[in-house]
Order: sequence, then C-alpha cells, then structure tokens
Amino acid sequence: MSPKKILAVVLAAGKGTRMKSAHPKVLHEVFFRPMIHHVLNAIGSLTVDRIIVVVGYQADELRQSLNEYEVEFAIQSSQLGTAHAVLSAQNALSNHVGNVLILCGDTPLITSETLQELVCAHESSSAVLTVMTSFVSDPTNYGRIIRDDNGSVRRIVEHKDAKNDELTVCEINTGIYCVDSRFLLSGLLEIGRDNAQGEYYLTDLVAVARNEGHIVNRYECTDFCEVMGVNSRHELALASSALRDKRNLELMQSGVTLLEPETIRISDDVEVGADTVIGGNVILSHGTSIGQNCRIEANCIIRGCSIGSHSIIGPFCLLEHDTIEGHTMVRSNLIHNENDIL
Ligand code: UD1
Ligand code: CA
Repeated sequence: MSPKKILAVVLAAGKGTRMKSAHPKVLHEVFFRPMIHHVLNAIGSLTVDRIIVVVGYQADELRQSLNEYEVEFAIQSSQLGTAHAVLSAQNALSNHVGNVLILCGDTPLITSETLQELVCAHESSSAVLTVMTSFVSDPTNYGRIIRDDNGSVRRIVEHKDAKNDELTVCEINTGIYCVDSRFLLSGLLEIGRDNAQGEYYLTDLVAVARNEGHIVNRYECTDFCEVMGVNSRHELALASSALRDKRNLELMQSGVTLLEPETIRISDDVEVGADTVIGGNVILSHGTSIGQNCRIEANCIIRGCSIGSHSIIGPFCLLEHDTIEGHTMVRSNLIHNENDIL
C-alpha cells in the first residue's frame, strides 16, 4: 500500500501583537533559528507531499527567510482568524485528496515523532478530525477542550470566550490538527465570527464536525513543553531555554562534560567528541566540530570551526571559520597588545 498523501498547512500570517515587534512573530529566534524554521524542520522529517505556509503580516520578510525551504505560500491579506488563515490555502486544499496536517508557526518545540504519531492515530481511525491536546497546570490563554458525557471532544472554547467552569479545564488545544481535506473545505465555510475576538476561529471546526455527526478524536501530547505556543518575549526565552536544556542533556549523555550547562548554548549542527570539557558561557554554532578530550574554557564563542582532539581553547576566545589541529593550545585572542598586561 502506498503511503497516504499529506498536505501540511503552517499558519504564520499573524502579527503577534504580544511580541510588540515590527517583525513577524514566527521569525523571532528560538535557540539559533527563527521559530518557524524549527516547525518546518519537524515537518520535513515526515512524508509530506506539500507544505503551504500562510503568510500575511510582513509577508516578504517571511518569504525571504524561508527561501531554502521547499514550501509554497498562500496569502492571507487581512488577519481575520485561524480558520480564515486556513481558507487562504483553499486553492492548494481543493486539489488535495487525503489528510491535512495543520500547525501554527509559533510552536517551535514540536518534534517530528509527535507529529508522526498524530498522523498515524488519525489515519488508523474513522475520525474526520483529530485534535492534538495536552494537559497543563496553567492553561491561561489556550483554547480549552470541552468533552461530552462520553468523554469525546465536543468543542473547543477559546480562553477569552470561556465561562468560569470552562476556564478550570486543564486540557488545552495545541493548535495542531490532522483533518480530512474534503471535510475541512466544507467545514471551514460553516465557521462564523460571533465571538469575543470577532475572528473566524479554526477551533470551531470541532463543533461543526460534531454537529454534522462526524467523529472527532483527540491525540494527547504527554509533554506539554513540546506544544507550548510562543506569543511573548517571555515565552520566547522559555522556549529557547527548553531547547538548550534538551540539547545539553543529549551532549552530556554522549560523554561531554558541561560546566554550568544552563549558561552554555550549542546548536544542533555542532559535533563534540567524548571527554571534552566545556566551560560556562560558551557558545558553539555554525557546524563547528570539536574532537575528543578537548577543553573549551569559559566565555568562548566558536562558529564554523574544526578543532582537533586534545586541544585547549583558552578563555574568551572568539574563533570563526578556523581549523585548529589536534594537541593545540589557543590563548585568548581578545588580548591584542601584550604590553597591555603585565
Ligand atoms: C490558538 C488557538 C488556541 C490554541 C493555541 C495554541 C484559535 C482560535 N486558537 O490560539 O485554541 O490553544 O493557538 O497555541 O485557533 N494566524 C494567522 N492568521 C490569523 C490569525 C493567526 O495566520 O488571522 C497564525 C499566527 O501567525 C499563529 C497561529 O495562527 O502562528 C496561531 O495564532 P495565535 O494568534 O497565536 O493564536 P492563539 O491565541 O495562540
Ligand atoms: Ca499562539
């Protein structure tokens, strides 16, 4: 059996008012790359036929940032809500028979494994729509999952529209869905904007499906961290720290010593050999590779370098695109004039 065709739609047209920025929200950097790049990388590892990015606010800046990705663009010229944003991709959707994976460009911690699990859960069910949900201790600002007496998802209520008892629900909408394309196109047209924000909410698709007698399932992501939405500078910092910690843990598990790991940032494209020790405030990026048994002292910034095994890089070094043989000792290059120090 050939794998089913999947079309992915990434919503990225919003201004991101809470960021208070002149740039599109999804271009703000989270752990070395714009947050939407993280989302596209996670989708990239799936078998997806086409990726449509819905752009609007500062569309040109966004397009330019994505010129290395194989994506198509749909334009949402006025930001009337998430359902309206998906409808902007109508042309691509009407040519597609199969399932559609919908994501927001502001959930940079999502992994391809979790997306794959959502798609598999949806494909092996008879639901027209599967919503990814998660439980969180503080659900403020998220849409809440409202279930019926049988425990099935009945509807989603947005934070701003929720009644007091609904506000206490801790199961939230992650904004990630897998949905049958035919139902999606007809269902979107049923959605109105009679709500607290006067927007076309994609979340209303759940009630539309249920009202028409369709099955709607939920797929629970057990790690809320993966689906946190980034809407403010504070959440931007939280998301960056979470990715940094995850990466540092991976490195420590592979045999690298990190002194003060909460101050060290090592991008995903960097390789570090076992028994290398890295001091505080070090930043390694741009495909740097470091051999085994090295010492990278505190406060070094190393970009695009290759450092052989058993080398020592003294504190405060800024190295860019250098090749350093093994068994080398590099002193700080911030001291330009030796007479400056006695
Ligand atoms: C949305 C969901 C909420 C969910 C949360 C998860 C709706 C109505 N609400 O809320 O249930 O818990 O995500 O993080 O869907 N966008 C557009 N065009 C628009 C509006 C938004 O493209 O007209 C894009 C934004 O750029 C963003 C994404 O859609 O990437 C989500 O929009 P945002 O305003 O962040 O929605 P939330 O309030 O977080
Ligand atoms: Ca959001």
